[in-house]
Amino acid sequence: MKIHDLTFEPFLIEEEIKNRIKEIALEIAKTYQNEPFIILAVLNGAFRFVAELAQNLDKNVEFEFIRVKSYENTHSSGEIKEILGLQTALKDKNILIVEDIIDTGNTVCELLKTIKSQEPKSVKVATLLFKPFALQIPVMIDFIGFEIENKFVVGYGLDYNERGRELNDIYVLKS
Ligand code: IMP
Ligand code: MG
Repeated sequence: MKIHDLTFEPFLIEEEIKNRIKEIALEIAKTYQNEPFIILAVLNGAFRFVAELAQNLDKNVEFEFIRVKSYENTHSSGEIKEILGLQTALKDKNILIVEDIIDTGNTVCELLKTIKSQEPKSVKVATLLFKPFALQIPVMIDFIGFEIENKFVVGYGLDYNERGRELNDIYVLKS
């Protein structure tokens, strides 16, 4: 399958992804029990993941959508430009950051700094995908969908220069 100039091949199919997200939703529900918490979904990439999570969570959750940008082409620029859309006061709230993927760890690390400065009650991190071999900054990740190799992937919300987010399966760059 081609997106822009690159060729991708099938990697994770929709059914596997959805089954895993159900398991994560259960883990999340178990963690918070009846405690209210706020999901901070990092757009654009996390839109599919968070929508699927929502279908499997209970009434003690609120949703906020924020965006940051750190990626150009297939390499992390390592620079967080801005965090947009954070409007709710987070003080004394339980916060769950929901990311599509953690690669170098830069984005989530910057986000954690900003969020912690608002003195929330707790902060946890959930990511659909995690590339352990790409990580440059140590971060604690509480919920991980899939640990994957250090290869570029698209689909299920993830893009290659803004294309491929609509794909129901996840594809990996052909090497
Ligand atoms: P990090 O700051 O390097 O951890 O990168 C985080 C962001 O880079 C993610 O939220 C994605 O938007 C993007 N990203 C990292 N790896 C990939 C990938 O393999 N495919 C698509 N986007 C990616
Ligand atoms: Mg992203």
